[in-house]
Amino acid sequence: MRQKIVAGNWKMNKNAEETEDLLNDLIDQLPQDVDAQIIVAPTFINLASAVDHLEFTNIAVAAQNMHQNENGAYTGEISADMLKSIGVNIVILGHSERRAYFHETDTILAQKVTTALKHDMTVIFCFGEELKDRQNNQHFNVVENQLRDGLFHLENNDWEKIILAYEPVWAIGTGETASPEQAQEMHEFIRETIRKRYGSNVAEEVSILYGGSVKPDNAKEIFSKPDVDGGLIGGAALKASDFAAIVNGV
Ligand code: G3P
Repeated sequence: MRQKIVAGNWKMNKNAEETEDLLNDLIDQLPQDVDAQIIVAPTFINLASAVDHLEFTNIAVAAQNMHQNENGAYTGEISADMLKSIGVNIVILGHSERRAYFHETDTILAQKVTTALKHDMTVIFCFGEELKDRQNNQHFNVVENQLRDGLFHLENNDWEKIILAYEPVWAIGTGETASPEQAQEMHEFIRETIRKRYGSNVAEEVSILYGGSVKPDNAKEIFSKPDVDGGLIGGAALKASDFAAIVNGV
């Protein structure tokens, strides 16, 4: 049975004190008995304290990025080994903001995925089309290319550690959420694309999250779709009551 997952990508938000406050609110407000994996991704400086703070909870901690190399002269970067050394075993890779602002190509992302798996990390791999792609009816081609170039170097057994996050760029931070039907249509395409390359076992077992303006009032309907296995949440993850409402909708 596929895992239901709700992950909160905090992006560049919350200092050390604000992180502790939000984590305390999440511990108080998140359901204990939900049949889903709950993940939060604070910024790098707050990861170690978040791991300690959440040790005895049902909430896991993810990093928002990592470098593809093991170590060396990469000022400002963080390695997989460094993340593992503080108990972080999940990493978000390929977010559209990393692709756009920091020029992370499919080739670099494929290297990052390989390095993360080498360190036995779980990868939340992000991808999704831009508005112009959808307007030109190229969104399926764009998504297929991102999957192929970022992930199709993997072996079948690698996919046990892969979580997919489809995030149409035009829906991120805009309030323009994909409709449940649009989400299901693309998720079904994604699962079929995986099935063609890796077979039904991998395709049926991989969790495919939707991200892009998921809110308490739209989460339940989006998550109810057969090929939507949860969400990757941005803005709504920064308020415990909103994130808890979304988790309750999965
Ligand atoms: O990674 C999740 C994020 O990109 C979605 O952001 O604010 O549209 O939920 P938001």
